[in-house]
Amino acid sequence: MSDTKNPNDVRDQVSRAYATALKASEEGGSCCGSKKTVPAGMAAKLAGYEAELDSVPEGAAKSSFGCGNPLAFAEVEEGQTVLDLGSGAGLDLLLARQKVGASGKVIGVDMTDEMIEAARRNVTEAGYDNVELRKGVIEALPVEDASVDLLISNCVINLSPDKPAVFREIARVLKPGGRVSVSDIVAEELPQWVREHAAAYSACIGGAISEQEYVAGLEAAGLTEVEVSERLVYDECQLQGVVGSDLDALGVPREQLEAGVAAVVGKVWSAKFQARKS
Ligand SMILES: C[S@@+](CC[C@H](N)C(=O)[O-])C[C@H]1O[C@@H](n2cnc3c(N)ncnc32)[C@H](O)[C@@H]1O
Repeated sequence: MSDTKNPNDVRDQVSRAYATALKASEEGGSCCGSKKTVPAGMAAKLAGYEAELDSVPEGAAKSSFGCGNPLAFAEVEEGQTVLDLGSGAGLDLLLARQKVGASGKVIGVDMTDEMIEAARRNVTEAGYDNVELRKGVIEALPVEDASVDLLISNCVINLSPDKPAVFREIARVLKPGGRVSVSDIVAEELPQWVREHAAAYSACIGGAISEQEYVAGLEAAGLTEVEVSERLVYDECQLQGVVGSDLDALGVPREQLEAGVAAVVGKVWSAKFQARKS
């Protein structure tokens, strides 16, 4: 997808893809935009969740589209406020609520109506009254300045058409001393045609920036102590799961699909980015 594309068009296309992927996950399974490749719940296990999955409503685990577990080892205490960018069907919201307890607050922001509705259903089923869903875009967060202790996000920022704006918003909403724990996909040296492919973009590949650009973006926004960990370089099979079935569903010829996956093996991985606002 070219940089000259209108950001609203990019977000509309991504939002439609995730409304479709949500529906497909309820029928079969999904991981970061793909359909029917990974059995229900398996995507979440691959992303780094294990026992946690038994503690949330089935719908939240089944419709997880993450690529990591941003809350694992995150420094968060009871009573704190956690904000999740691109909260999807709400798995990380529920896990964050378990950590901050009844005296804390958890806010999820997502632009896709279907995702907001699914997350609300899952929050209600879990019986929590301090988890709030707000519809909005991560480039202009509907969240007050300096109000968040821990900001998490799981496989979302790669989808943004304006990543510097997202990094600035992260710095704006964090309290001084607040922390960032973000899992995301990064990519290096992708062929231009993959970058320009709409389905590859929605599948979290085409819009991914390099690890170096990610770190530089967080630092440029004023965040400090930026660290990268938990790298998982996707092999061909995992890439088929992440991107293959999307391209398949869009009628991309099999040879092009295989060429596309082969072209990005070794160049795409998930990683966890941690940082702090001074
Ligand atoms: C790959 S899914 C991840 C969902 C969730 N974090 C999880 O781990 O299951 C991406 C989510 O981000 C949302 N999203 C993508 N771009 C966004 C943007 N610019 N602003 C707000 N939400 C966005 C989509 O609607 C979708 O729910």
